Amino acid sequence: MTDLNLAVIVLAAGQGTRMKSARPKVLHSLAGRSLIAHVLATAGELEPGHLIAVVRHERDAVVATISDLMPGAVIVDQDDVPGTGRAVELGIAALPDDYEGDVVVVSGDVPLLDAATLRTLIDAHRGAAAAATLLSAILDDARGYGRIVRGSAGDVDRIVEQADATDDELDITEINSGTYVFRVAPLREQLALVGAKNAQGEKYLTDVVGLLRATGAVVSALPVTDGWRVAGVNDRVQLAEASRRMNEVIVRRWQLAGVTVDDPATTWIDADVTLGEDVQLLPGTQLKGATLVQTGATIGPDTTLVDCEVGPGATVRRTDATLAVIGENASVGPFAYLRPGTYLGVDGKIGTFVETKNSRIGNGSKVPHLSYIGDTTVGENSNIGAGTITANYDGVIKSETVVGSHVRSGSHNVFVAPVTIGDGAYTGAGTVVRKDVPPGALAVNVAPQRNLEGWVEQNRAGTAAADAAAAPTSAAASDTA
Ligand code: UD1
Ligand code: MG
Repeated sequence: MTDLNLAVIVLAAGQGTRMKSARPKVLHSLAGRSLIAHVLATAGELEPGHLIAVVRHERDAVVATISDLMPGAVIVDQDDVPGTGRAVELGIAALPDDYEGDVVVVSGDVPLLDAATLRTLIDAHRGAAAAATLLSAILDDARGYGRIVRGSAGDVDRIVEQADATDDELDITEINSGTYVFRVAPLREQLALVGAKNAQGEKYLTDVVGLLRATGAVVSALPVTDGWRVAGVNDRVQLAEASRRMNEVIVRRWQLAGVTVDDPATTWIDADVTLGEDVQLLPGTQLKGATLVQTGATIGPDTTLVDCEVGPGATVRRTDATLAVIGENASVGPFAYLRPGTYLGVDGKIGTFVETKNSRIGNGSKVPHLSYIGDTTVGENSNIGAGTITANYDGVIKSETVVGSHVRSGSHNVFVAPVTIGDGAYTGAGTVVRKDVPPGALAVNVAPQRNLEGWVEQNRAGTAAADAAAAPTSAAASDTA
C-alpha cells in the first residue's frame, strides 16, 4: 500500500568523475541493469507517496532511463550549486507545501541496498521519533567514505568527509552509507543553513547531521551487518566488486529456489533472469537480460544466453545465443551460435559448429553439424545434412529458404534462396539446390564421378601414395578391389 508519509529522493546528478567514462556513472550496469535501475527498483518496493530523482550531468540520458523505468517519478534538475545537500534541497522543494512526512535519501550509485534494510531504517527512525536516522557501516577499509563522528556518550555528533577529515578522524571505521531518513521540516530548516566552506567547495548533505545535533534533535546511526550492502560505486574497481556481490545474492536466491549451480564463482545471472526448478547451470554460464530457463533444463558449460527462452528439459552446451527460443527437450551445441530470431521446436537439435539466424526449425527437426541456416523455415522431423549452407544473401537482398517436413537433405548442400524443398524430398550429397524441389523428389546436380585408373602411378611415381596404390593393405583395399 502506498505510504503517503514517505518521499524518496534518489540522488543522480553527479558526474562520476572517478569512473573516467563518457557514460554517466548511474547508467553503468551491473547484473544487466543500470545502477540507477537497481536503486529505483528498491525505492519502488517501499511504495512511497513521492519519488523524486535529482539529475544534472548527462541529464537527458539519465532522465530517459528513469522515466522509462518509473514514469511516475518527479524529475528535478540540480542547478550550478554543487553537492548532495543542494541536490536534496531542490528535491524537497518539489514536494507539496503541506507535506509533513519522512524523506528517505538514497544515492544512485549504491546498487546493492535492499528494501528490507531501508524498511528497518524507516521503522527505527519512526520508532525513535528521530529528526534523522542514517545507515552506517563498519568497514575494514573506510577509504573514500564520510566518517561518523560519535561523542563520548556514543551519540552521533556529525559526519566528516574524507577530504576534510583529520588524521584521527580518518581512523574511524564507521562510515556514512549515504542513505538516510529525515523528517522533512527539520531537514528543510537545516539545509538552508549549510554552506560550502569545505575541501570540495560543495554543499554537503552530511553537514545537516551536525547542525541537527546542535539543535538538540534526535539523530541516530544504524550500522548494517553486511557492509557490502551499502557499498558505493565510484570507480570501476568498485563496479566489479559490486557486480560480484550482486551475483552472489542472485545465484544464492536461485539455489534456494531449486536451481543447481555447480560453480557459483563462474556463473553469472542477471537480475531479470527467470529459472525453473531443477535447472542445472554448469561452470562458465552467463544468463543475461530477460532470459527464461524452464524446469529441468541444463545450461553450460561455457554458455552465454542473452534474452533467450529455453524450454523444459532442454540441453544447451558451449553455446552463444541471443534472442533465441529453444523448445522442450531440444538439444543445442556444443559450439553453436544462435543469432536473433532462431526458434528451435520440441525435441529439435542444433548441433556442433552450427550458426542460425532468423530461422524456424520445427519440432523434431535437426541441424546436427557444420551448417549456416539463415532466413529459413524447416518443417517437422526433417534432417539437414552435415555442412549445409543456406545462401540467403545475393549481395543485394536477403531471401528465404523453405524446407518441408520429413526432408532428408544430403551432406554439403547449398540451398540458394529463394528456394523451397517439398515435404518428404531428398537431396543428394554435394547438391547446390537452385530450383524448388517437389515433395518426394530426389534432387541431384553433381556431375557424374569419373575415375582415371592408374593416374597416381603415371603422375606421382615414387611417392608414398604410388607405393600404397601398388600394394594396397588398408581397409579401403577390399572395398575397391
Ligand atoms: C557521499 C557522502 C559520504 C558517503 C558516501 C557514500 C556527501 C557529501 N558525502 O560521498 O559521506 O560516505 O556518499 O557512498 O554526501 N550527487 C548529486 N548532486 C551533487 C553531487 C552528488 O546528485 O551535486 C549524487 C551523485 O550522483 C551520487 C550521490 O549523490 O549518486 C553521491 O555522490 P558522490 O559524489 O558519489 O558522493 P561521495 O563522494 O561518494
Ligand atoms: Mg559515491
